Amino acid sequence: MTVLILGGTREARTLAILLVGQGVRVISSLAGRVTTPALPAGEVRIGGFGGVEGLVAYEREHAITAVVDATHPFASRISANAAAAHHETGIPLLRLQRPGWETRPDADGWHWVDTTAEAVAVAGRLGTRVFVTTGRKSLRAYAAWTDRYVLVRLVDQADWWVPTNWEVLVERGPYDPESETALMRDRRIDVLTTKNSGGSLTEAKLQAAADLGVPVVIVRRPAAPEGIEQVGTPEEAAAWVLTRD
Ligand SMILES: NC(=O)c1ccc[n+]([C@@H]2O[C@H](COP(=O)([O-])OP(=O)(O)OC[C@H]3O[C@@H](n4cnc5c(N)ncnc54)[C@H](OP(=O)(O)O)[C@@H]3O)[C@@H](O)[C@H]2O)c1
Repeated sequence: MTVLILGGTREARTLAILLVGQGVRVISSLAGRVTTPALPAGEVRIGGFGGVEGLVAYEREHAITAVVDATHPFASRISANAAAAHHETGIPLLRLQRPGWETRPDADGWHWVDTTAEAVAVAGRLGTRVFVTTGRKSLRAYAAWTDRYVLVRLVDQADWWVPTNWEVLVERGPYDPESETALMRDRRIDVLTTKNSGGSLTEAKLQAAADLGVPVVIVRRPAAPEGIEQVGTPEEAAAWVLTRD
């Protein structure tokens, strides 16, 4: 059995550890966006496949027997490609996607939007000192904000020259509510933008916002490809893989 894990998330790395521990041959695939990625257990390949066609060819060439799409909830293109490849090859595909933050008690009070552009518009009406945590790919949507303080937190440096009134923090979680509260208080943040990534690593900012009364603008997840079985934890995904045998 050879399992291809489409990765780039903590859940994907945990799944790789679980499966390698069970003696399963695992190939984890990373997009190659981050300069120093956390490397999963087992074999690793890095870089795009070249669309659906490339993914199908890769799966056939490497005799892949099961695929787990454990990519980030907002990595919708690779998930769509994985679903299309599955329909073409018939190789079993599972989606591993961590639960979102919509079950938090403060979620009803957030400003839910569908796109980063909407987040920019709504946040622009709510405040003037903005904490942006919607990720590197979303940054250009905020580019017109050259007239206000913007605190941006990224895992890797921005790939363009951001406006000089922005402060960029390059950090990787986990964060705790105390330090998030101190950061937001110190920078006098009056609105937070984020996306519904879910997970505990970056959740503390939401508690800090709730404690400080800072409004939250949050981007909903893109729709998942239809007809693909889904689980929420690496343990469930490992059990699914082990029953493929
Ligand atoms: N989007 C986020 O907010 C976010 C946050 C944390 C981590 N990540 C991780 O970063 C990676 C890229 O995210 P994205 O939002 O840029 O993806 P995306 O928009 O869904 O994918 C764009 C293209 O990148 C390549 N790609 C994406 N994930 C890949 C993987 N795991 N292995 C090989 N190729 C991959 C594919 O290229 P080809 O078509 O050439 O195959 C895909 O068509 C993902 O692995 C994801 O798990 C994303």
